[in-house]
Amino acid sequence: MATASSVVEGLRDVIAGNSSLCYLDGENGVLAYRGYNIHDLAEKSNFEEVCYLLWHGKLPTQREWAALKAQLAAARTLHADFVDLLRKIPAKMPPMEVLRTTVSLLSFWDPDAEEMSREANLRKSIRLTSQIASIVATFERLRRGEEPMTPSATLSHAGNFLYMMHGREPDAVSERAMDVALILHADHEYNASTFACRVTAATLSDLHSAITSGVGTLKGPLHGGANEQVMKMLEEIGDPENVESYVKGKLDRHEKIMGFGHAVYRTTDPRALHLRRMSEKLAEVTGERKWYELSVKLEEVIEREMAARGRTTIHANVDFYSASVYHMLGIPTDQFTPVFAVSRIAGWTAHVMEQYADNKLIRPRGNYVGPLPDQPYVPIEDRG
Ligand SMILES: CC(C)(COP(=O)(O)OP(=O)(O)OC[C@H]1O[C@@H](n2cnc3c(N)ncnc32)[C@H](O)[C@@H]1OP(=O)(O)O)[C@@H](O)C(=O)NCCC(=O)NCCS
Repeated sequence: MATASSVVEGLRDVIAGNSSLCYLDGENGVLAYRGYNIHDLAEKSNFEEVCYLLWHGKLPTQREWAALKAQLAAARTLHADFVDLLRKIPAKMPPMEVLRTTVSLLSFWDPDAEEMSREANLRKSIRLTSQIASIVATFERLRRGEEPMTPSATLSHAGNFLYMMHGREPDAVSERAMDVALILHADHEYNASTFACRVTAATLSDLHSAITSGVGTLKGPLHGGANEQVMKMLEEIGDPENVESYVKGKLDRHEKIMGFGHAVYRTTDPRALHLRRMSEKLAEVTGERKWYELSVKLEEVIEREMAARGRTTIHANVDFYSASVYHMLGIPTDQFTPVFAVSRIAGWTAHVMEQYADNKLIRPRGNYVGPLPDQPYVPIEDRG
């Protein structure tokens, strides 16, 4: 029987399985997908190339890259019956709930739904990657009372997503900012939502079921939901002048500050560096410098105040600067976590295929802390 001494709370630092997808060194802030450093990928690559890398384990040739781009573009259109169902969803529904439910629904129109071969799972991964982006953008338009956009056949994944949401082609800086955000969020080893996907896949359930588990897990504010909370916090603070008192108040009350700290990184989250840069660039282009300046000040004050109190230093994580980036891209705050899923689908699907390729049912033990197993059963009529 499992004992209390063997419990690792939150499974922190427990190695739960093998993977050749994501290298993560939390002490030194190193992150690589399939051996390629995240800094190189963020600066030189694009989301479609990263999808190929995650799914196939190597960078694509030009021909392979063009073929995948064409397949992703061809998979963007949602079935008309599916769009009709989206139309019936009340506009007030939180978009992350809409995504959780409709991702599951997608399998009804997927010709490979129950097919478990690697080829079928690759085809489903491509469809899910394109269609999750289309769902998020389409529901956004429908709830604003606008007609859904017909997807572009030529724009990049990032560009098409912004086009389908806003109804106009994005400028080059916005498209690149979206692309970089998608690259940076694409995978992150055995994070909570990816682990949820792997647990579901390990029962040999289908890919759509595994991804539905992932979306539900991403939703929580301690995981993907943090980016929405960051934006709400920035709005609450309102002005760089209020940062000092806000941070001191939070730390005095021992409350968590969203977008800071990480279960693995003990130093700066390497993804935050690129998002900070993107936030600054968008601030220059849009002229809306407030959110970037507020964010920078918040980061400085938190690090200083934690040190002054002799507490473990916490750094900005991926969710912190993605909030101001998404905001300046015109994405509504309650769509930030769905946008996280628009990217993380690449990693989720890669992990599920990796799980299928070398599967073992994931079934840990719990440490029992309930009453002794010798309770006398009293019939209900004698219980008063
Ligand atoms: C992500 C998170 C759950 C990781 O938690 P964890 O690995 O359990 O880290 P701990 O909670 O043990 O944190 C270590 C210390 O930093 C503090 N800390 C961690 N994150 C903090 C935060 N966001 N704000 C204030 N203090 C924080 C803890 O209180 C603890 O302090 P102590 O040592 O003085 O008790 C946590 O940092 C958090 O809740 N962050 C906010 C939510 C968020 O941004 N999530 C997205 C992650 S990508």
